[in-house]
Amino acid sequence: MMLMKRAMDWCCGLTVLLAAAGAAGEAIPALQKQGTAQQLIVDGKPYLVLGGELKNSSASNLPYLEKLWPQLKSTGLNTLLAPVEWDQLEQTEGKFDFTILDGLLRQARSNDTRLVLLWFGAWKNSMSTYVPAWVKKDHVRFPRARNRAGEPQDILTPFGQATLDADRKAFAAMMRHLKQVDPQRTVLMVQVENEIGMLPEVRDSSPLANAALARPVPTPLLSYLAAHRATLHPYVRSLWEARGSRTAGSWTEVLGDSIEAQEVFQAWYYAVFANGLAEAGKAEYELPMFVNVALNRPGRKPGEYPSAGPLPHLFDVWKAAGPAIDILAIDTYFPNFIHWAKQFKRPDNPLFIPEANRAGLPEAGANAFYMIGELDAIGFSPFAIENITDAKTDNLPAAYAVLRQLAPLILAAQGRNRMRGFKADVSYDGVVNTGNVRSHLGGYVLDVSFANQWGTTETAEFQERGGLVIQTGNDEFIVAGKGITVVFSDPSGSMTGVGIEQAAEGTFVDGRWREGRWLNGDETHQGRHIRLPAGDGFTIQKVRLYRYR
Ligand code: DGJ
Repeated sequence: MMLMKRAMDWCCGLTVLLAAAGAAGEAIPALQKQGTAQQLIVDGKPYLVLGGELKNSSASNLPYLEKLWPQLKSTGLNTLLAPVEWDQLEQTEGKFDFTILDGLLRQARSNDTRLVLLWFGAWKNSMSTYVPAWVKKDHVRFPRARNRAGEPQDILTPFGQATLDADRKAFAAMMRHLKQVDPQRTVLMVQVENEIGMLPEVRDSSPLANAALARPVPTPLLSYLAAHRATLHPYVRSLWEARGSRTAGSWTEVLGDSIEAQEVFQAWYYAVFANGLAEAGKAEYELPMFVNVALNRPGRKPGEYPSAGPLPHLFDVWKAAGPAIDILAIDTYFPNFIHWAKQFKRPDNPLFIPEANRAGLPEAGANAFYMIGELDAIGFSPFAIENITDAKTDNLPAAYAVLRQLAPLILAAQGRNRMRGFKADVSYDGVVNTGNVRSHLGGYVLDVSFANQWGTTETAEFQERGGLVIQTGNDEFIVAGKGITVVFSDPSGSMTGVGIEQAAEGTFVDGRWREGRWLNGDETHQGRHIRLPAGDGFTIQKVRLYRYR
């Protein structure tokens, strides 16, 4: 028991201090570095978003939303991601109606849930369906994008100054209002637009876009390229270097006119637009802001996927144009999410997953453990959270229940090389890598298997399994998750053995470890490994190791 207490002290001293500071006032939520991680600080202490995103229309009607809360709460989420629609906020130009936003805040507060708002403005999934009617119907003031043949698309061009001005004005009005009505900090972050990207062609070919293409490349992009030469993504670097790394010139002179160069051009102007909103919003109320992105399928050309969004191959462009955008966030709908998520965690970009595929998938819980444990994610949030109608049979609530218990330990460990996350890798085509995963933590080698230790394992079983390990002291670890077996060994080889001094199951209740059974026999294969059963949902074990020679 004493040892368990020491483990918490070792890990959580910082959290206790921060909690005390938070009690003094409601600081505005902000991002803050901790080692190699960036964390979301809420009420003065790190916060883990265990979230769920509503379907697109669920927050557009308050009585409709009200009925969903019991179901939403049953998932164990602490944060709801909910759209705010420009068309509802400003039905008449210049007259802002905050009824729905205020109702959303009220409902969230009475359900003890925080919010992340999604601003559905000029673009939602490439299209422009959420703009008010007075924007939709005025194609002269609010010009449309055009395809190569010059045909208008029902998509606003990012080159329309009046469009940017109007969208900014509405977004700023929302942020101004929020500052006034949300001293409780119910809202933690705001997403600017939704899955920006050009379809069905690589770029807008409207007269305004063509005129911009003929102008010089803006200086901030050129300066960024020069300053980040060593780390530029090959997609952008190869275009730039192929033309002699020019520090001035038109888009064609600097980057060429290939489809890739056109995507970079389009990305710059989308990012400038989104940054314009973020800047205007932050000038009113400085909450963290992010954009989200639809990923591209292998082998597809820009325009076959939503071109020019904040995809990893265009991060340089989005970072250069978007200093007011704090996070380029990933929407993961492909099986190979590990491949993608790793690219979104960078020193200049914390990992946040506003849409972690659709809620209700059997792998959701394990995915959350991996993203949070291995990649220090700020948070995890499947889309269409209303899909979870039976919390008892869905795996996400069980995963969230354990992650909630562990949140103080997780948040204390993030970015400090004290935590690892585990999940079987899956290819884009859905082929599961059934091999062990090897990792290092706290002076030990960890070999993690997702297979049943006896008998065979179905592919579907591999998908649902995953976990994390947190170092809580010298030779002490928390192992949590589902269906994983962990063998600890010494990095120097077999002449130094590693034994299990004690393994115990348990739970954290109000931050205190409540110990369950001691696991010396079959459960640890008589001391050979730590095993989190697949059949019991997500569980926690405390483990203390020793070495022998
Ligand atoms: C991604 C979008 O961002 C969401 O708003 C929603 O349209 C989903 N796709 C639907 O799968």
